[in-house]
Amino acid sequence: MPYQLPIRCRRNRRNESIRSLVRENCVTTDDLVMPLFIIEGKNKKIEVKSMPGIFRMSLDQLKKECVELWSLGIKAVALFPAIDDKLKDKLATESVNDKGLFQRAIRAVKEVTPEMVVIADVAMDPYSSDGHDGFVENGEIVNDKTLPILAAMAVSQAKAGADIVAPSDMMDGRVGVIRQALDKAGFTNVGIMSYSVKYASAFYGPFRDALDSAPKSGDKKTYQMDPANVKEATREISLDIAEGADFVMVKPGLPYLDVVRKVSEISTVPVAVYNVSGEYAMLNAAAKNGWLDYEKVVKESLLAFKRAGADIILSYHAKEFAKWVNGK
Ligand code: PBG
Repeated sequence: MPYQLPIRCRRNRRNESIRSLVRENCVTTDDLVMPLFIIEGKNKKIEVKSMPGIFRMSLDQLKKECVELWSLGIKAVALFPAIDDKLKDKLATESVNDKGLFQRAIRAVKEVTPEMVVIADVAMDPYSSDGHDGFVENGEIVNDKTLPILAAMAVSQAKAGADIVAPSDMMDGRVGVIRQALDKAGFTNVGIMSYSVKYASAFYGPFRDALDSAPKSGDKKTYQMDPANVKEATREISLDIAEGADFVMVKPGLPYLDVVRKVSEISTVPVAVYNVSGEYAMLNAAAKNGWLDYEKVVKESLLAFKRAGADIILSYHAKEFAKWVNGK
């Protein structure tokens, strides 16, 4: 007589209808934010070499893109500007230019898709002649001299119409300083999505190609977190929440799912995760070689973020995912 199994887990996997009843997590376009790279010019749409399918766009193209994204069910975009080298300086002066590329981009998105949530990146690196996220003095990234620059940048973005400002610089105390500056300027409704737990990662390589924003000297290890650490994540998010962050973020994503899990268990505000440029590049490279089924691995990766506890996913896959699930 063969041994009679009392419990069979496979019963709940028998067919797709049962599987869908017991499914614990799902990804929809409600969860996704599409990052977009902006450049000056007219009718420009230049593919990022290390990110096939991702483009640097002039404002006219950006508008078209946002209309299409909106029709596909994507309701939030994260904007990043590629600034002309001639406009870069030590103080990131261009970042507060009301007629600057970034400010015009925010207005352009709001003009064509007023309900699109615009998330504006707050950091010095796209504007800095040093290519760092903070103010550089004698080779050092000086925290407290960076704070007023970030605060002014955030106010300028809010004035242009940003719904959420997203400091990605990892300076200490910037969330509080930005909150205060926004409130003082009357932007009490503008939210802060803090890149709270951002690691000094090599997975940002393709992004720095896209914006031409790599540091001119040194690396970002004195401000971005050591990839070996996780306890420190608790400290970073507690501080940011105390300073007034409306969302916290973990970045990168796939190699840091343990951190997403940990942060999602303790955070009192929604948790975002950034599925970064290098992660996008990896799946694309493998798919190009015919080594992976692209659509399936992308869907599985996005699901992994939800399973790890993320509420919001910033991903370069957002548009293609929306086409797969919502497209006609
Ligand atoms: C810089 C910034 C980076 C990314 C977003 N904002 C790169 C960096 O810290 O060097 C990376 C995003 C990606 O790789 O997709 N403020």
